[in-house]
Amino acid sequence: MKNKKITRKITQGMYVLTTKGGGCIVDAVSQISASENPLISVAVMKSNYTNTLLKENTTFALSILGKEEKSDIISTFGMHSMRDINKFETIETTEIEGLPIINHTIGYMICEIVNRIENDTHTLIIGKLVEADMFEDIEAMSYQYYQEHKDELLRITTETGKTAWICTICGYVYYGDELPENYNCPKCGVSKDLFQKKES
Ligand SMILES: Cc1cc2nc3c(=O)[nH]c(=O)nc-3n(C[C@H](O)[C@H](O)[C@H](O)COP(=O)(O)O)c2cc1C
Repeated sequence: MKNKKITRKITQGMYVLTTKGGGCIVDAVSQISASENPLISVAVMKSNYTNTLLKENTTFALSILGKEEKSDIISTFGMHSMRDINKFETIETTEIEGLPIINHTIGYMICEIVNRIENDTHTLIIGKLVEADMFEDIEAMSYQYYQEHKDELLRITTETGKTAWICTICGYVYYGDELPENYNCPKCGVSKDLFQKKES
């Protein structure tokens, strides 16, 4: 038996990864060393436009989301691609060290990329922390909190009278009684076992 849902119990936070030209929501972030300039790893999906940008850029920033986050940051950066919209048109940022840092967050970490490891679906980017600051010392949003409040955070609404399957990772909605065999989310690529049924 392989119940992948158990991986959701790995405690992770919610961040906006930005780099020159774009960015996206990430939860797969870890501190992997504790020197004067700690190493931070982040796993970025190969299908994301942000992954393409990170091949050309040498730095990235992580803005840390607070638990009380109520704006459109998550839906804008986590459910849309910079291929289709300019995320910076609606979300306020401040430029620091040449990178867009998201306003109204707990704070930010700027990293210089020191390694890239290509895996099956994601590139593991390892960065050395070079600059960071805290704007507000409040509780960070955990990935578990996001999962439990996703509908309100992403403002997901489904059509009445239809059976909907909602991707628990990105919020994509599929309508139909059952998901097709071997179905993967067309938006974020995860397999069908990560969809949740909602009848209305
Ligand atoms: C809660 C949440 C967590 C996510 N975590 C990650 C992640 O850790 N790594 C990743 O590459 N994408 C993650 N995503 C998906 C990207 O944010 C999403 O695919 C985004 O639209 C990509 O935008 P881009 O094409 O402009 O890069 C997450 C999305 C959400 C909503």
